[in-house]
Amino acid sequence: MPFIKSYGDNGVLERDAPMKSMKLYTNVQRIHNELAALGIGPDAALRVDQLTPFDQYHYFGTDAVDEALVVLQLQPGSRVLDVGSGIGGPARYIAAKTGAHITALELQPDLHEVARELTARCGLSSRVEHVCGNILDGALTESYDVIISFLCFLHIPDRAKLFAACRAALKPGGVMYIEDFGKPRPLSADEVRALSVKVQCAGLPGRAEYESHLATAGFADVSMTDVTAAWKDFTASRLAMFRAARARNIEVHRQEIVDDLDDFYGAVAQLFQDGAISGLKIIAR
Ligand SMILES: C[S@@+](CC[C@H](N)C(=O)[O-])C[C@H]1O[C@@H](n2cnc3c(N)ncnc32)[C@H](O)[C@@H]1O
Repeated sequence: MPFIKSYGDNGVLERDAPMKSMKLYTNVQRIHNELAALGIGPDAALRVDQLTPFDQYHYFGTDAVDEALVVLQLQPGSRVLDVGSGIGGPARYIAAKTGAHITALELQPDLHEVARELTARCGLSSRVEHVCGNILDGALTESYDVIISFLCFLHIPDRAKLFAACRAALKPGGVMYIEDFGKPRPLSADEVRALSVKVQCAGLPGRAEYESHLATAGFADVSMTDVTAAWKDFTASRLAMFRAARARNIEVHRQEIVDDLDDFYGAVAQLFQDGAISGLKIIAR
């Protein structure tokens, strides 16, 4: 298995450690606190719908995934690659809803392990295969009808290598559905720093640059929808709701976890508020 890597006692590969400056990715075991608050024990069987309020690390949760499913028209047995699958929320939801087979590729070992455990507890391990690895390793070839990727590509500045790896993983005629950030205008030094440290974005493309990278990798029929306004509202209300529930959240988790998430939600809401990032939905064939 080319993607399997070994990692240290702290569950974090040295080369992946900087990802943890983005506080969404610290304490990823916190989903177990939410389940405990619902009275669900650590070994209990789970349903996908019990997890979806907590396991979707993108905007608008399963509504966004449903929107993708309308486009993708997956069938039982369709083969899907989820690039940057996080703790497995979209992959489990799609497998349960469509019967498709998903390879859930996740870079960070701690997220991968939580994902695998939750999938097993949902009884979905035969349809969701969790793989810990880096899409840039380029080890996948022409196996997939569909690639999905929700808010992962923003972490990968080398778009030439990324899209070449995606193109190689798709069967001829396959389709790729992406949710991603774009760069709507030149950024100040403070904005560049906030993006790179708090959101792990080392560089975002403008719209024309995005289209040119896709074309160079061999993608055609590209449709790109700007969803910045909706994502600006979403990130602002996510922060407001999180702050309104601060006392409850500290009771369920602990203060350090709540402060980390507050820091992350606050940084992203501010960047959208200031017009420093845009939201893009892209379909390419
Ligand atoms: C914001 S999360 C979204 C997770 C998931 N797509 C979801 O919507 O719930 C982005 C994920 O992409 C992963 N990621 C970043 N770079 C990656 C790479 N080069 N290869 C595989 N996964 C990557 C991160 O570790 C993170 O878990």
